[in-house]
Formats: sequence, C-alpha cells, structure tokens
Amino acid sequence: MASVIMVGMEEWNQATIAAFRQDLLSWYDQEGRSELPWRRDTDPYRVLVSELMLQQTRVETVKDYFVRFMTALPTVQDLAAAPEDQVLKLWEGLGYYSRARNLHKAAKVVVDELDGHWPASYDDLLTLPGVGPYTAAAIASISFGEVVPAIDGNFFRVFSRLLKIDADIAQPKTRKIFYQAIAPIVDPERPGDFNQAIMDLGSTYMKADQPDSAHSPVKAYNAAYRDGVEDAYPVKSKKKKPVRQVYQAQVAYDEQGRLLYEQRPAQGLLANFWTLPLRPVDSVEALAGQQLTTKPVTHVFTHRKWEIWLVALPATEPLAANQAFLSPAEQAALSLPTLQHKLLKKIDELVAAGSLFL
Ligand code: ADE
Repeated sequence: MASVIMVGMEEWNQATIAAFRQDLLSWYDQEGRSELPWRRDTDPYRVLVSELMLQQTRVETVKDYFVRFMTALPTVQDLAAAPEDQVLKLWEGLGYYSRARNLHKAAKVVVDELDGHWPASYDDLLTLPGVGPYTAAAIASISFGEVVPAIDGNFFRVFSRLLKIDADIAQPKTRKIFYQAIAPIVDPERPGDFNQAIMDLGSTYMKADQPDSAHSPVKAYNAAYRDGVEDAYPVKSKKKKPVRQVYQAQVAYDEQGRLLYEQRPAQGLLANFWTLPLRPVDSVEALAGQQLTTKPVTHVFTHRKWEIWLVALPATEPLAANQAFLSPAEQAALSLPTLQHKLLKKIDELVAAGSLFL
C-alpha cells in the first residue's frame, strides 16, 4: 500500500503528490513568468537582491529597481565595495531601508569573511544578515537545488486552500505546521522551480482576492475549492492596528531658499535619514491652527501610523548639530526616505497654490 502523509485535513498519498508536481511544473514551464528579470539565471547574488526587494514590494515595482541595481552593482564584489550612500540611493523609494543595509552587510560577509564563497545550504544561509527562513529557503532551492519550501504569504494562501490547513497564519508557530505539510511535496528534482511556481500560482489563479480556481492548473487538488470554502482560507486572526502618532514637521527656509533638514537619530525608525525636523505633538488641536494644510501627510510603518502636519516656523539659530539648511542639489544628492518625499510634494503643492512663500 502507498504510504500516506498526513497534511492538514487532507491526505495526499505519493501518487497524488507526484501528479501534483507534474501538473504544477508543466503549467509553470508553459505559463510561469519566465520573463521576470531575476529568473534569467540562478546566481545567488541576484536571487538575494530580488528576494529582499520582493519581500515588501510588488513584482511590477521591483522589476525596474532590480534591473537598475544589477546594472550599477552587477556582482556581490561590487556591492561589498560600494559606499552605503550608493546602496541606499539605489533602494530609494522601496522603503524598509533595513533591508538595503542588511543586504550590504551580507555582501561584505560573503566577500570579506567567506572569500567570495556563498553559504550553499539553508542552515548556512540563515547566518547572513537580514536572511530569514523564507529568503534562505529561496536561495537554497533556486541557486543550490536544496529541497526546501520557501514559505511566504503565497505558500500560506495556496497550501491552506489546497490542504484545508486551519492553523492561524498570524501565529509564528504556524510556520512549522506548514513546513511539515509542504516539505514532502516539494519536487526533489526541481525545488527552485517548484517554489517559484507556487509564487506564480499565488499571484494568479490563487491570489487573495477573486481567485480563479475554476481554471487553475491545480484545481483538482484544491480541497477548499471543492468544498466551496475557499474564502475561509488562509485562517488569519486580526493584527493590532498600527498606533497613530501625531507630528509637526517644521518648514523653514534661509535667505538663499535652502530648506531646513534634521538628521534622525542612529536608532529607531528611519535611523540616520535626513527629513524635515519632526516633533511629536499630543494632537492636531495642540497646533492651534498653525498647520499649513487641512489634511496631514500620513505614513504607515509596521506598528505605527504617523500623521504629520506641516507648520511654518523659523529655524532656531544657531542650528543644532544634527540640522542643516540644504539646497535642492544637496537634497537630491542624499537618499531621502519616502516619507520625506511625501512632505516635499506637499510643500510643492502649497507653493504652487500660493499658500507658502519662500
Ligand atoms: N515574490 C517573492 N519572490 C518571488 C519570485 N522569485 N518571483 C516572483 N514573485 C516573487
């Protein structure tokens, strides 16, 4: 008798697993997104850069960033030798800059400490800065052929539906349940393609909103669809809402039309970046009508939602050590976080509307 593997509420035997791999991979060979620029080869450097970019950012957006990054810094040696400014500049607009800083550190580890030799297994890849279980599994499978599932949001969605796995994906311990269910299903001959095929499935026929399971290449294996309960998967308890915090952003110019900036502390959100001077306030009422706009600029971090009101206030002279008036050219030479770009856009709108005079 064929051995039976318990997976969630569904049981797939070896014949089902073999048929699933076959159907998935022949679909991937014909209709997978082979045109994606990071799929041209399996160089671990390219896989690391693309996977880190893709962690919080959409595929469409990442394409251009990835190509620009690879043109500027084609090898891990180029990245290790690059100044941090250049790396952050290439990342500008992608957000979550700790990813870029970690990527830079990881390149230095590979080049300076490992003599340019990549850690070639899942366990060893985990030792690189910024490389967690998902990224380690993606590189191990795509670049080195290791048979491990690269479990990201796509995997939770796809396999929770296929196998009717009821575990709450908001809980860290759920990852292990999925790992145990999926690991025996990964194709041992083509683990990297298997993982990327699941990603493609998860962004097409099995996407979060309006999936098209009726036409999916793996329709026959979808227990939640068969039972008419796809909407119930994946099971995910509600996250706490980000905490709202109100700030004032100081708008001040000197006689030469240079704008006042402040460098943020080395620790905390947007560490070391230059922005308008930002000060927490209790509420918008505390600004007593000084705010320049009727709506704030908002910016959401993982656990915080900043509501920022522009206020015209002269600089306090002499400037603090972490403050400077910057010309437009000096601003352009820095890598500014997306939040600062939003503030600058708002200032431009005010100037254009004649509500702010330089
Ligand atoms: N999302 C995360 N990694 C991806 C990849 N390698 N290809 C497409 N989408 C992805």
